[in-house]
Amino acid sequence: MDNDYPDSPEPMHNIVLIGFMGCGKSTMGRILRKKIGYQHTDTDHVIEKEAGMSIPKIFEQQGEESFRDMETALLKKLIEQQCSKHIISTGGGMAVREENQALLRELGFVVWLECPPEDILAHTSKSNNRPLLQCDDPMAAVTSLLEQRTPMYEQAAHLKINTSELEFDEIACGILESARYHYGTT
Ligand code: S3P
Repeated sequence: MDNDYPDSPEPMHNIVLIGFMGCGKSTMGRILRKKIGYQHTDTDHVIEKEAGMSIPKIFEQQGEESFRDMETALLKKLIEQQCSKHIISTGGGMAVREENQALLRELGFVVWLECPPEDILAHTSKSNNRPLLQCDDPMAAVTSLLEQRTPMYEQAAHLKINTSELEFDEIACGILESARYHYGTT
């Protein structure tokens, strides 16, 4: 997509999934891993493992800013390690920091899984592991956060896929075809 960040001279060969909570980034990461045999890195899982506690606990004990610092630090670490041939599923707020938007693109081909608020709510309402949606009016929270974040997802992504009318397999095929084109391996 059109944005202000020049692509890094040598983008790393990863597929990076961004988008709002409940849009299917983790599920899609697992599907893509099975299809092409890349490793799957889920940033929320890595952060929980390294912190030794769940995301709600991190938010509760250390605050959201600390969690955001952990996200930025993880992106930097992946770049430093020259992480390659990974599918990277990110947390829904990963693209919010401007710094992260450039880091995400440095890591590879960034795909934004776009999802309407109704679907988001349906996918997230059964679990209580998303602190930002633990409130009296989750629909209002989703709508407001989505409005704030849409330009940031747009800025970070090479490709946007609206997932609402598509099967997982169709989305996966679309991502892989576009990634091959992006990396010039068609
Ligand atoms: C967040 C999304 C969550 C998790 C944390 C914050 C966000 O990940 O990183 O609760 O700010 O949107 P998922 O998108 O996997 O739910």
